[in-house]
Amino acid sequence: MPDETLTIRDNRTGTEVEIPISDGTIHATDLRQLGLMSYDPAFLNTASTRSGITYIDGDAGILRYRGYPIEQLAEHASFLETAWLLFEGELPTREQLEAWEEDVRLHTYVHTNVTQFLDGFRHDAHPMGMLLRAVAALSTFYPDAKEIGDVESRRLQRVRLMAKFPTIAAWVFRHSRGLPYVFPRNDLDYIGNFVNMTFEIGGRHEPNPVLQRALEILLVLHADHEQNASTNAVRGVGSTQVDPFSAVSAGIAALYGPLHGSANEAVLRMLDEIGTVERVPELIEAVKAGHGRLMGFGHRVYKSYDPRAKLIKRVADDVFAQTGLNPKLEIALELERIALEDEYFVSRKLYPNVDFYSGLIYQAMGYPTDYFTVLFALGRLPGWLAQWEEMLSDPEQKIARPRQVYTGYDEGEFVPLAQRG
Ligand code: ACO
Repeated sequence: MPDETLTIRDNRTGTEVEIPISDGTIHATDLRQLGLMSYDPAFLNTASTRSGITYIDGDAGILRYRGYPIEQLAEHASFLETAWLLFEGELPTREQLEAWEEDVRLHTYVHTNVTQFLDGFRHDAHPMGMLLRAVAALSTFYPDAKEIGDVESRRLQRVRLMAKFPTIAAWVFRHSRGLPYVFPRNDLDYIGNFVNMTFEIGGRHEPNPVLQRALEILLVLHADHEQNASTNAVRGVGSTQVDPFSAVSAGIAALYGPLHGSANEAVLRMLDEIGTVERVPELIEAVKAGHGRLMGFGHRVYKSYDPRAKLIKRVADDVFAQTGLNPKLEIALELERIALEDEYFVSRKLYPNVDFYSGLIYQAMGYPTDYFTVLFALGRLPGWLAQWEEMLSDPEQKIARPRQVYTGYDEGEFVPLAQRG
């Protein structure tokens, strides 16, 4: 028995058991000695894994990938460098980074049949719905992706996903606009190629380095966030040993929800509805009276200012210096100001989260509101893949299959249809 233990006395029977504590946790399976399960809907106090990827201290507002503070990565690292860090556990050397960038560059093309099923979507199909289907469908193009026990195959699928995701994401954008698909250009870097595939018209697009770096920082800020809802979906579905394209599409589905990735879209709709700064107090009162939530506020883990939201505010300054001020920024700043002084929000520790300002920036860059979550998904992709890899290499993991507390009927007798009243 380790030094740290917990003694539990079952007052129904007087039985006492001593169970080990490790890393501030007890094993739920140790409760079986007492014939008990733990009940934790929505995982409020349950760790589903050990993980060495991302550290969050929600009270102190700290976020680190593999030990590196998010502030330093946002300032210095490229998105592909950050992805390597998440996958490999360390920052790449120059040679490693160049080889990784080249590897990704050589896999950016997707089978042209993908354009045919994108064409099958209605013109107003939601971009996340299209992304979800197209990424899941990649598994049918790469049947070798089923070899999830093969380290080299897993590495190849990671490269494929990182390389083809921007192509599909850009094509989803083109489909929504009724524009012809632009194919990847190998002379451009990762971000430059993605932006070109989305915005090129008539063979031309004038790159704006400030906006491209701002987009890159946003992707770095979204790259991982430990066991969030979409990562949990990737791990949960991946635990069945399905291929990574299918597991990642489960993450995309989870991200689509307005309580998760689509909150950035919901923020913009909310700002549109408010319309003017003068109407901000009215919305705050409505939220306090239980009519809806202040979108882009609150977080399951952060009970102080989301460190990513702080960094995003700085990115917003750079972007708006290029594009001119987004008039909705004024409404957002006023909302934040009032909410941070209001007892309702202060007592519940509700602060702006990563999504509160990101939508305003995406809009200024020229992305439509319903496309914002696609950008979030592109950013989160390396996190999903790193967590998927960690899950598969973890001997403690098995198929994720929770238990339940049954609350239904006792056994009943089947009544034939003719005899039912
Ligand atoms: N506006 C108003 N009240 C809120 C908000 C909000 N945005 N968020 C939480 N609350 C209130 C709840 O009503 C509850 O109040 P009560 O104790 O009086 O009932 C209390 O704060 C606690 O809320 P929970 O729902 O228990 O908190 P939980 O941790 O389950 O939810 C969540 C976290 C989903 C992020 C929530 O804060 C929310 O809905 N926020 C708005 C949506 C959003 O911005 N999501 C993006 C999250 S970040 C991301 O996914 C990248």
